[in-house]
Amino acid sequence: MQHKELKIIYKELALDELDKQQQELIQLAIAATNQAYAPYSEFFVGCALQMNTGEIITGSNQENAAYPSGLCAERTAIYHAGHSHPNGVVNQIAIAANSNKWNTENPVIPCGACMQAMIEYERKQGSPIKLLLYGSDERIFELSGIKDLMPFQFELKVQSEVG
Ligand code: THU
Repeated sequence: MQHKELKIIYKELALDELDKQQQELIQLAIAATNQAYAPYSEFFVGCALQMNTGEIITGSNQENAAYPSGLCAERTAIYHAGHSHPNGVVNQIAIAANSNKWNTENPVIPCGACMQAMIEYERKQGSPIKLLLYGSDERIFELSGIKDLMPFQFELKVQSEVG
């Protein structure tokens, strides 16, 4: 038997410690919370992703009366990017939340399904996607890649690749 250990490295920063572009991306994620349709949870999530061309794509959570049919902000944005820029490269993604009901002081951590979805695009583009997770107390977690949040991911490999 072997004991193994995994370590996650991330930064905790104040808003003014980020560069201008990142501060703008966070402001866009905060603004995108206003486009969320979340009458059931009352938890409004906004997401802004920046392509390596500088183009910004935003997304927000979209809910449904049949609850599981809704979609998180992160997947709304990353699937839109995948569709509109099939060969595009995403550099970084900012995520923020707004709610009168739920606590939003702590940085928003994407759900596991969104992590898995975003990791697919890291794999597809062959480079990590930086994550900026915003908390309304103005603390930001910065991770240099989504894989850092979910070190074990589901992956399909053809049999010849298994080793
Ligand atoms: N939600 C997101 O949009 N992103 C996350 O990372 C976590 C949760 C949404 C899903 C649902 O509409 C609401 O927040 C409450 O779970």
